[in-house]
Amino acid sequence: MNLDQAMRLAMKEALKGAPFVSPNPRVGCVILGSKGELLSTGYHKKFGEAHAEVEALKSLTFDQLKGAHVIVTLEPCAHEGKTPSCAQALARLPIKKVTFGLVDPNPLVAGQGAQILRAAGIEAEEYQGDLKVGLEETCEEFLWNQRYQKVFVALKVAQSLDGKIALANGESKWITGHESRQKVHELRAQYDAILVGKNTILIDNPSLNIRQPGIQKENKVVILDRSGEILKIKDQLKIFQVHKPENVIVSSCPDLETVLKEIYHLGIRSILVEGGGQIYSSFISQGLVQRLHLFTAPIILGQGIGWTDKINLPHIKNKIQVDFTDSYVTGTLSVTKR
Ligand SMILES: NC(=O)c1ccc[n+]([C@@H]2O[C@H](COP(=O)([O-])OP(=O)(O)OC[C@H]3O[C@@H](n4cnc5c(N)ncnc54)[C@H](OP(=O)(O)O)[C@@H]3O)[C@@H](O)[C@H]2O)c1
Repeated sequence: MNLDQAMRLAMKEALKGAPFVSPNPRVGCVILGSKGELLSTGYHKKFGEAHAEVEALKSLTFDQLKGAHVIVTLEPCAHEGKTPSCAQALARLPIKKVTFGLVDPNPLVAGQGAQILRAAGIEAEEYQGDLKVGLEETCEEFLWNQRYQKVFVALKVAQSLDGKIALANGESKWITGHESRQKVHELRAQYDAILVGKNTILIDNPSLNIRQPGIQKENKVVILDRSGEILKIKDQLKIFQVHKPENVIVSSCPDLETVLKEIYHLGIRSILVEGGGQIYSSFISQGLVQRLHLFTAPIILGQGIGWTDKINLPHIKNKIQVDFTDSYVTGTLSVTKR
């Protein structure tokens, strides 16, 4: 197995930890034997539990590790936190080399994990290949938190082909199919909290919990309601029946950046913004979004609520660029006259 193949596999491993590692990064590890053969894989499964390197090492003997190559998506940690230092643990083993995908921006690690390994006579190299962007994505919330001490913001939008998230009367169930909705539950588990606007709660009366077999997780919900209507009719809303009181935060703060700062102080490091239209528009126009998860159903809804209706750009040169790969769609319509 070559380095790119091993790194790709390590990235795939890392993603398995998505629902439970926050505020730690998702990290995956692959160990190759002295002849380049795959020996083991591992990933960080849960905050406070073993790191990816330890998971990958645990099934291997000292002899198997002679001359081995450890490939890990993020620099091995140098400090003793909830678990012992991975760099120190690796330094005691007869491995030949460690290749890590990214330098850990955490000031307690940043380059020091690699130094510990080199001091022990182990080659330690940062990966410089084509997978760098993908590597950043595997732990993007963590990198954002470390670099800027801010909440990572992702938007999840379920839209029609013509960019609508609901009909004009507010009806929106369902725009996308079963498969997309399952994926949304995985996304909910990946982020620390879901954020929605008042109208979405009033119109849809959603539960906003994680309903995915295999992911047992209680999530947090943040509701933005400047006029304080929600709390007055609490008893009629599912959200207050489904979640523990401490997991539902209703904010009347008018300023989004202040809301984000407040929830960061409460320990929330990432949010999935789930609508509606005004909330999406506010986050986008204020430049507060780091990732967009866009589900597009092959339907046309015509007049209705768009997710960008309240974004008002003065000139085309102010257009907001989104780094997508697919931009061309072709298809036939269900209303064609014969
Ligand atoms: N397809 C999808 O993915 C999707 C997802 C979610 C919702 N929806 C649909 O979207 C519709 C609701 O969307 P909507 O645009 O009417 O309402 P919304 O975005 O859910 O809520 C807007 C309300 O949130 C409050 N708010 C608080 N802070 C805000 C801020 N910084 N910026 C904007 N609003 C803020 C405002 O009320 P106050 O001034 O009183 O605070 C505002 O009227 C529903 O029909 C729902 O079914 C679709």
